[in-house]
Amino acid sequence: MAQAVAFDVLSDTQADMVDLDTALSALAEFGTADALFVNGDLTANGRVRQYRELFAHLAAAPHPPALFTIGNHDFYNHRTNRVSIDRFLQFTGMPGLYSAHRIGDVKVLRLGTLDGSEKSGHYVVLGADQLAWLAAELDTNVSAPVVVLSHHPLPHTVSGTYDDPVTQAPKMYSRDYAEADQLLTLLEAHPEVLFLSGHSHWNLSRADWFTRARGFAAANTGAVQTGFGPDGRGGERPHDGPFNQGLRIVVEGAAVRVHALDFVTRAVVHTVEFSADKTGASEVDGVTWVEALTHRGAAPKISRS
Ligand SMILES: [Fe+2]
Repeated sequence: MAQAVAFDVLSDTQADMVDLDTALSALAEFGTADALFVNGDLTANGRVRQYRELFAHLAAAPHPPALFTIGNHDFYNHRTNRVSIDRFLQFTGMPGLYSAHRIGDVKVLRLGTLDGSEKSGHYVVLGADQLAWLAAELDTNVSAPVVVLSHHPLPHTVSGTYDDPVTQAPKMYSRDYAEADQLLTLLEAHPEVLFLSGHSHWNLSRADWFTRARGFAAANTGAVQTGFGPDGRGGERPHDGPFNQGLRIVVEGAAVRVHALDFVTRAVVHTVEFSADKTGASEVDGVTWVEALTHRGAAPKISRS
């Protein structure tokens, strides 16, 4: 029997330390997972003091070893790409903008933009080397599934990224990746992939928070800071009131369960399960907060793959 591993996923903290503390406290309520993924927009503006504050709060709260991806907000310091990327690497300790890791039997691949200036008209430019590296990592993967972490959503995957201007935000999320077509083509050949994206802050209560329609699995990672939803005119607007969401993922062999969690109401919003070696996915009803957050693993360590 494969060893079960559990991952927590937060994104878009954007200097909201009160909600971060709440989320970390909730995730550790019944014992910590095996790894924490912080999927971009760690800071509001990529400032040193914001990184210091973030890591002080992380250090003060029980949580498992963490992996981080860079988000567009982490470039909003009016400095060069180099400064923002070096700052991100210095504070997070990540080995580069992109890297491969192994947690138990699960391969985890981090992606990151080489250019956060947005001068290209896109948030994300992966570059030929990163795309070739990703293709090689997927082709040589012997585990199932493989988790791919990237801050920005891909077109026609999760909430907000579809074309309907009433229920979606095509003005916002159709051009996040310069190489969207190449990345989608690559991922579509790998049904074992679970692609995790944040950035939109759209509510995990939506039915389109998760999809496997494109062959691979894609899940919205919610947001710690401020919720957003459609404005009915192809754009988006913020939610009123408190908002704080993330994921708990449990992998056992080829079986994957993804729990969408609301840290404000301490409730399981959705649970889906799928098998990395089969098509389709199914919604699981009635999963309780305790059931979602109770994990009995053997605490495997994160290692470079
Ligand atoms: Fe973002």
